[in-house]
Amino acid sequence: MTGEAKSQNISWHSGQVTVGDRERLLKQRGCTIWLTGLSGSGKSTIAVETEKQLVNSGHAAYVLDGDNVRQGLNKDLGFSPQDRTENIRRIAEVAKLMTDAGLIVLTAFISPYRADREAAREIFTDGKFFEAYVDTSLETCEARDPKGLYVKARSGDIPEFTGISAPYEVPNDPELIVKTENLVVDESAEQLLSFIRSCGFLAG
Ligand code: ADX
Repeated sequence: MTGEAKSQNISWHSGQVTVGDRERLLKQRGCTIWLTGLSGSGKSTIAVETEKQLVNSGHAAYVLDGDNVRQGLNKDLGFSPQDRTENIRRIAEVAKLMTDAGLIVLTAFISPYRADREAAREIFTDGKFFEAYVDTSLETCEARDPKGLYVKARSGDIPEFTGISAPYEVPNDPELIVKTENLVVDESAEQLLSFIRSCGFLAG
């Protein structure tokens, strides 16, 4: 099992600045919007557009993206079920810290396993973590194939590819579903933005 605590004799050291202090400074409340969906579903594109619009309107937001994080923090991880679990565990911990810093965090990871997404939710304070399912069919993702990965997966060049040779578990009860197929990117981002607004995170 990944993520077992190995160190002993450690204790939490609180600072003198609270999350409330940081949120007052930023005039917003921190949260994590956890986008999940197939490769090519539009997670990163929607997250990046939403981040741009938030920053343009004076808010502090940050995108954590699978392809990017796997080039640094998680470059030791592949795509086995165990490695994906560890990938999500680490990202959830990073997103939690960034949420505590008062940021609006948008994560864009396939995160194909329900148990991993639930474990991510568990580490957050209630009301700070929201699951957003980017609902794009496998057919559409495969037709888009922005990185040419589905072609390689179909020919067997990429093993354990989500949707082809590895599972994707659709969320049972996400806070938000963005059905991208009949929407342009702006419209999908607007659904995310209005959700974030309606939860009150953009008020000081
Ligand atoms: S996750 O399953 O562990 O959440 P993550 O979001 O970090 O995946 O990375 C997915 C990205 O890695 C895809 O968008 C794709 O570009 C690339 N990738 C490479 N190999 C695979 C694979 N076997 N399955 C899925 N995505 C893959």
